[in-house]
Amino acid sequence: MFSKKMQDALNNQVLVEAQSSQIYLAMASWAEIQPGIDNVTAFFYRHSDEERMHMLKLIHFINERGGFAVVPALEQPALTYPSIHHAFKELLNHEIYVSECINNLVGISLDERDYATHNFLQWYVAEQIEEEALARVCNDKLELIGDDRGGLYLFDQDILKVNVVGAVE
Ligand code: FEO
Repeated sequence: MFSKKMQDALNNQVLVEAQSSQIYLAMASWAEIQPGIDNVTAFFYRHSDEERMHMLKLIHFINERGGFAVVPALEQPALTYPSIHHAFKELLNHEIYVSECINNLVGISLDERDYATHNFLQWYVAEQIEEEALARVCNDKLELIGDDRGGLYLFDQDILKVNVVGAVE
């Protein structure tokens, strides 16, 4: 059964995913006006698109279960970052937060004995493992690079190879 509590919690996740998309869109716009990080820029734009797909997946699920998915108002995200390192740190921290939200949802689905939602959420559980891992790899590389401009150039090349996980299904 699809309870009001479950529906409200899923609608809150619609907001979290939409806000994630907005945050990464702002990172992309900021990165786009920085010199020489075209691939990082593309990475953020793509990541933003994927978060939108995460949101849409939730919206369809809520409505298909007989609920009503609420399209939320969004907060203005951070528009600029002191460095690319800061942006990627924020990406990691944000994904850790999203994972907590997903874990919380899974807990509610078990409390509510809503196994259909529990099953649906497993895709997000797996997705978060991959997204956090990817964000950690990027942060580790940036830590190695430090302030080295050549290193940053290579990072931008390297990110081309990164297959952003959780590609749209
Ligand atoms: Fe949809 Fe990056 O969490």
